[in-house]
Amino acid sequence: MDSYDVIVIGSGPGGYVSAIRCAQLGLKTACVEGSDTLGGTCLNVGCIPSKALLHASHQLHEAQHNFAKMGLITDNLVVDWTKMQSYKTEVINGNTKGIEFLFKKNKIDWIKGWASIPAAGQVKVNDKIYNAKHIIIATGSEPSTLSGIEIDEKTVVTSTGALALDGIPEKMIVIGAGVIGLELGSVYARLGSEVEIIEFLDDITPGMDAEVQKTFQRILKKQGLKFTMGAAVQSVSVKKGKASVSYVKHKKDTQHQAGADVVLVATGRRPFVDGLGLEALGVSLTDRGQIQTDTHYATTVSGIYAIGDAITGPMLAHKAEDEGMAVAEIIAGQAGHVNYNVIPGVIYTHPEVASVGQTEEQLKAAGRDYKVGKFSFTGNGRAKANFAADGFVKILADAATDRILGAHIIGPMAGDLIHEVCVAMEFGAAAEDLARTCHAHPTYSEAVREAALACGNGAIHS
Ligand code: NAI
Repeated sequence: MDSYDVIVIGSGPGGYVSAIRCAQLGLKTACVEGSDTLGGTCLNVGCIPSKALLHASHQLHEAQHNFAKMGLITDNLVVDWTKMQSYKTEVINGNTKGIEFLFKKNKIDWIKGWASIPAAGQVKVNDKIYNAKHIIIATGSEPSTLSGIEIDEKTVVTSTGALALDGIPEKMIVIGAGVIGLELGSVYARLGSEVEIIEFLDDITPGMDAEVQKTFQRILKKQGLKFTMGAAVQSVSVKKGKASVSYVKHKKDTQHQAGADVVLVATGRRPFVDGLGLEALGVSLTDRGQIQTDTHYATTVSGIYAIGDAITGPMLAHKAEDEGMAVAEIIAGQAGHVNYNVIPGVIYTHPEVASVGQTEEQLKAAGRDYKVGKFSFTGNGRAKANFAADGFVKILADAATDRILGAHIIGPMAGDLIHEVCVAMEFGAAAEDLARTCHAHPTYSEAVREAALACGNGAIHS
């Protein structure tokens, strides 16, 4: 009963997906999870609850800014924060219970508790040893805070605390203009907080296509978010429930202070591998604390694998899921594989931002000869009808072969639109393949086709 083909440690998107695929492939599988619910950071304190608050606050924004234009009068619009929080909790519960159901359906045992690995082939939970031919570490990541900042999850919070504040703060300072800072900053700005984002670099969302970065920041400013760029936060102090943030503007080397009711520290995440006993086992880590793996997700100890945020690569739930499926297939003797050139990234603000493949800056740096097809949502009838015409689709294609090398979208439903380009890239498509595919009218997707047309003889509606 206590011997398994595979024990997966961690039930986030990487872990639970991997467990399900292992079970589907006929492997006797268990998953160890120490939290009260399955689903890991993503379902409990990450992707899913943040999307619930983004959705609710976006509805508020629409009601305040666009309803009257359509003849919908909402005279007495009230934000009930307690109710919004319970809506968020219901969304979380529905999702985590869904994973429990999937585990039962696939006959996966949930071993409740925190795991360590005393030796290859063994997993220890609550002083009990379980045997496993294969162990998959999918323990994810945790917020990496700055030294000089103490997190209390009330006044100085990580994303976890920011999802469950006691109330809507009058003033919020967000440290870091990355994905978490901009998504949660947007939530509170829409709910009425004054939001100031303090960012070390000169541009928001590091690594993103520069043209998208600029448009994105302009739109967020228009929505009321304030940006203090080129500023390194050094410390945060709290007195009587109010926070004071000290930062240096590094170009002029000037020292500044800013006060807030809540400070959100969104300066990145680091792999969570504490308590597993990796060092004693001889599992090597990289200098950034990630578990070292080969192309088959094997660690430096035979029979132990690792996936997701705990290893190298973008810290994204869907990247972890794909690795979870691939490692299960590899263990089952199949040819599991992840195409790291086609992993989309999405920021769920309004408008959404999505990208896949190379940025223009990367192509320039690599000396590639490329062409750009760009189309603004102002030329898209559906977007205009829906007050969503801010933004554009940009497709980058090889100048000689027309093969799609990357796509960058800022606009309505960008996170869904990007997948048309992902599929095209998986099939090695040329921009012309997208351009010659009939797209239904009126849809936002037509903007993707128009950008593809712009790589060739030109878009029609611009
Ligand atoms: P991030 O790495 O995206 O951004 C952190 C920002 O903080 C950077 O711009 C950095 O320059 C800035 N920073 C660092 N130290 C600073 C200092 N002392 N003062 C001022 N600024 C400073 O990290 P974030 O937003 O915390 O996200 C963590 C991870 O979670 C990312 O890998 C992200 O991809 C993932 N995530 C993805 C989501 C999505 O796909 N929609 C949603 C939420 C998180």
